[in-house]
Amino acid sequence: MSHIKRIAVFTSGGDAPGMNAAIRAVVRTATYHDLHIYGIIRGYQGMYEGNFQRLETNNVGNILHRGGTILKTARCEVFRTPEGRKVAYENLQANDIDACVAIGGDGTFTGAQIFSKEFDIPFIGIPGTIDNDIYGTDYTIGFDTAVNTAIEAVDRIRDTADSHNRLFFVEVMGRHAGFIALNTGISSGAAAVMIPETEIKIDDLIKQLKKGAKRKKLFSLVIVAEGNQNGGASDLAKLVKEKFDYYDSKVAIIGHLQRGGAPSGMDRVLASRMGFHAVEGLLDGKNNVAVGVVNNKIKFTPFKDAISKTKTPNKDLIRMSEILAQ
Ligand code: F6P
Repeated sequence: MSHIKRIAVFTSGGDAPGMNAAIRAVVRTATYHDLHIYGIIRGYQGMYEGNFQRLETNNVGNILHRGGTILKTARCEVFRTPEGRKVAYENLQANDIDACVAIGGDGTFTGAQIFSKEFDIPFIGIPGTIDNDIYGTDYTIGFDTAVNTAIEAVDRIRDTADSHNRLFFVEVMGRHAGFIALNTGISSGAAAVMIPETEIKIDDLIKQLKKGAKRKKLFSLVIVAEGNQNGGASDLAKLVKEKFDYYDSKVAIIGHLQRGGAPSGMDRVLASRMGFHAVEGLLDGKNNVAVGVVNNKIKFTPFKDAISKTKTPNKDLIRMSEILAQ
């Protein structure tokens, strides 16, 4: 029998489509196991401010399909300080919270790891970030939806690029990770994909674009992750234009469009699975770990690995994308 009777759940860092589905799964699974569940509003900031709200089955009705997060989110500076974390702990104690479910990315997990070392309270993480850059799971919540949103946007850009014979540099999100860019590039037949994990020199990119021009390709698309080594889409467009002006070139930045919208079916299922197993994992004695799905199986990874080990895009996919783009 677990000693856990009251759980708190919160979302933190950048929001991701599917977070609501995860919150719903956490609340419904906890309720099924006769636990009391509290939502913390605005992540660690709300933990610090004591912003707790009782959640019951009805509170999470009609949210499964909605983007954003009903619990709101924040990037919290005060939680980085020992004093801030102490206040947060006192608030958890005041609400008799026995364990926490943290939904977010690496910043969220780092906070959870530090916190549960300082104070004796179990934490379990659910990877929710469009970036897909968390070790210990094949996919993070929101990634699939963000890629589909980016693909839809690029399809529209392709129409106008084709009409005007233009070269478009389309920037997608991913400060440190190229998963969104790579999958969007493959799915939209981009001439090149520029991601932080691989170094592509400007001259090599131009070579690739010239191949297209030589076979009378009338327009071209380059997908750029915002954290690409040569800079964002605008920087790249400038650098390319200086040496290669065969096409009239334009820049499009998809930005936060990728973070909103209804979660895809994949994300709804993934979020539901992760939320469900996070609660059952806690009741099973799991602590300081993040839930993940690897090869379609549930896996728990210690926070320290989820944070410090790097997940990199599949090399085969990168190679394939380069070959198919020729
Ligand atoms: O981590 C998710 C993410 O969307 C990144 O891809 C992006 O760089 C960042 O968040 C943007 O954060 P903010 O919305 O705080 O500007």
